[in-house]
Amino acid sequence: MTISQTPVIAKAHTNIALVKYWGKADEHLILPTNDSISMTLDHFYTTTSVQFDAQLAADDIILDGIKLPTDGQQRIRQFMDLVRQRAHTDLFAHIETSNHVPTTAGLASSASGFAALAGAAAKAAGLNLTRRELSQLARRGSGSATRSIFGGFVQWHAGHDDESSFAEPLDEKVDWPIRMIAIVVSQDEKKIGSRHGMKQSQTSPFFNDWVKQANADIDPLRTALLKKDINRVGSIAEHNAMCMHATTLSATPPFTYFNGDTIKAMQLINDLRSLGLNCYYTMDAGPNVKVICLADEVDAILDHLRPAFGNDQLVVAKPGPGLTYL
Ligand code: PMV
Repeated sequence: MTISQTPVIAKAHTNIALVKYWGKADEHLILPTNDSISMTLDHFYTTTSVQFDAQLAADDIILDGIKLPTDGQQRIRQFMDLVRQRAHTDLFAHIETSNHVPTTAGLASSASGFAALAGAAAKAAGLNLTRRELSQLARRGSGSATRSIFGGFVQWHAGHDDESSFAEPLDEKVDWPIRMIAIVVSQDEKKIGSRHGMKQSQTSPFFNDWVKQANADIDPLRTALLKKDINRVGSIAEHNAMCMHATTLSATPPFTYFNGDTIKAMQLINDLRSLGLNCYYTMDAGPNVKVICLADEVDAILDHLRPAFGNDQLVVAKPGPGLTYL
């Protein structure tokens, strides 16, 4: 195991879940309560450079051009401790990370962020990890990062321990024109982060039913993806998202990630569906809506959304690649 003498730069793309990860079976190891399936997106990615340096007394972290105070970003420092432990080193590192997620896109960067950090830090530390091992490592930073190691459609196997919880590609070179339109209804920082939101949702009397439903959605979704059946893919994903959000409304205390514009976007998509278009919505731990559709209906969908949402609130994404080194 040799520490790299030059900076290692990795690039990872963000992903949106079609069957959501929502709930932890183990908070420390970040083991999820259920399997999940996502699509990695093309436009939105993070690049991260890591170089270990014997001169440093702490990790030196620059996030989108801003140097973090020594006590800032506990999550990144804890993640780096994990890498140091595995590589049997006590060296700190220079870490420089840039998020290429249009600020207007309203998409979370923790998935691409921790996937890129896992890739760059592991290689810089001289660890020669397989992609499965990288996905296990990325999981310790942020659950959804587990899936961003791979491109296209990806399944995260919940597993029961550190070893058995990893992601696997279902189809990395997607050759059908599936699209996701992000409707950015708000760019505000989310009030209830996903860690806290999941924990609170686990108080819902429906939480066990959510887990059952999510696991039951996996095989039908895999089949629908294989058959390139947009209506099956969309309806499973939409129903799954609604089941996830039902655990927030029924939590103690109850909460929701939706705002008025989220509901408006859902209604517009429902209208389009009743007009015969094949489009479905999904939402994560925030108010923004992602529309699942096919390329040849994107323009008609955008036309219908435009009176309510400006051009800068509508971002179209395609399936994207997994982790690469620059
Ligand atoms: O990776 P986290 O801890 O930010 O959790 C992500 C949770 C959802 O985005 C809501 C769902 C998912 O599977 O990505």
